[in-house]
Amino acid sequence: MLVIHSKQDLDEQLAEWRRQDDHVALVATMGNLHAGHLSLVELAREHAERVVVSIFVNPTQFGVGEDFDQYPRTLERDTRRLKTSAADLIFAPDIETMYPFGLQDATTVSVPRITENFCGASRPGHFDGVTSVVARLFALTQPDTAVFGQKDYQQQLVIRHMSLDLSLPITILTAETVREDDGLAMSSRNQYLTDEERATAPLLYQVLSGVGAKLQSGVRNFEELESASLKTLGDAGFDVEYFSIRRAQNLEIPDRDCDELVVLVAAKLGDARLIDNTVVTI
Ligand code: PAJ
Repeated sequence: MLVIHSKQDLDEQLAEWRRQDDHVALVATMGNLHAGHLSLVELAREHAERVVVSIFVNPTQFGVGEDFDQYPRTLERDTRRLKTSAADLIFAPDIETMYPFGLQDATTVSVPRITENFCGASRPGHFDGVTSVVARLFALTQPDTAVFGQKDYQQQLVIRHMSLDLSLPITILTAETVREDDGLAMSSRNQYLTDEERATAPLLYQVLSGVGAKLQSGVRNFEELESASLKTLGDAGFDVEYFSIRRAQNLEIPDRDCDELVVLVAAKLGDARLIDNTVVTI
């Protein structure tokens, strides 16, 4: 397992793989890896001979008062976990490698519209930070394929939009959400939950699944489903940012005939901000 920090070392390794005609897949992460991240590595390996996992806690996607300082940085443990995975290389750049002109003079890549609602509304500037760092990671690692998780549903749509719009020669794949046995979506932020909150947290997915099943069976009173879910989660102690049924393709408001829906939720439980979603194809 190679652990590379500099652009020069990365360039040399990529050049060698290119000489061998190997394809490269990128799994971009902020580290503190769990089974969800590892499933992305597995999917990446099915599509390329070489898998690069980037680990970089990107400051530009955290808002003021968010958990940038607290975010767990666990490179040694992550390296141990990746040693037994299909990853070939960890790219763990420092801030100067990622933002050579410094944060003040950094170029921003910004996707309009689809970034305005949901996580974009509750975390202003967040998606500009994501697209700007992902564009940089794409430029540095030059992957043929990049894998993102469905757990961050809006994020993968935004990255797909950016890649298509800029004609980036990269195939974007979306991997299914990996869950704990009780249904809670795995997340680096689950460790902010107290024991009591952890016991409540699976309700998020239970409510999502319940709504998913109703949609699947033909129920179409979207607003009633949303407000009943908000109440259930609120009563259980969640501070819900949004619970919305939307068009899976673009997050626009669906009409009754829409045959691919996504149910999206973000809610705070104590110090942890949890997000999850379910896609319903009719
Ligand atoms: P991070 O939260 O570390 O997630 C890295 C990737 O893992 C994302 O594509 C995310 O959707 C995926 N992922 C997280 N939890 C998952 C789960 N339970 N099952 C499947 N996949 C899961 O998302 C980011 O980092 C950053 O925004 C990043 C794209 C790296 C840019 O900084």
